[in-house]
Amino acid sequence: MNFSMEEALSYYQKQGAPNDQSALIALLTEIQDAHGGAIPAYLVSQAAEGLKTKEALLLALIRRIPRLRLKDTHCLELCAGPNCSKRAALADFVEKTYGKDAGFEIRYVPCMRQCGKGPNLRWDGKLYNRADEALIRELTAVARKKTTTPSK
Ligand code: FES
Repeated sequence: MNFSMEEALSYYQKQGAPNDQSALIALLTEIQDAHGGAIPAYLVSQAAEGLKTKEALLLALIRRIPRLRLKDTHCLELCAGPNCSKRAALADFVEKTYGKDAGFEIRYVPCMRQCGKGPNLRWDGKLYNRADEALIRELTAVARKKTTTPSK
C-alpha cells in the first residue's frame, strides 16, 4: 500500500484533526506504519503544515504515546522506476559512496510519476528533478557532517 500524505490529511481532517487528539494519534500511527515503524521527522513537519497546527503539538503527542516513535534521521528516496534507472546509475553511486554507514536512511521507491524530468529523488520528502551525483553529495553533506562530528 502506498502512503499518501494528502489523502491521509484529508481523511483525518474529516475525523476531526487537528482538534480531535484521537484523530491526530490515528494519523501519526498510520504514518508510522507506512514508514517501517517510526515517523520520519520531515513528515511531522508536513503533517503540521497540512493541518495548520504546530509541529510542537505533534511532537509532544509522539513523546506522550509510548507506541509512537520518531525517526530523527534524514531520508533519501531514489526513484527506482525504469526511466530514472535508465538515465542514471544513482543507486550504484549511493551504494558505493555511502554504503551502510550513510548517516541517513536510503529508500528505493517506485516511479515518482515525473519521468520526463528524471532522474528524480526526494530528500526529506522534497522532490528534486534531474538529479545527479553532485546534488546527492550536496544534500547529504549536512547529514554526513552530523554523524562524523566527534561527540564532546
Ligand atoms: S521512472 Fe522515475 S519518475 Fe518515473
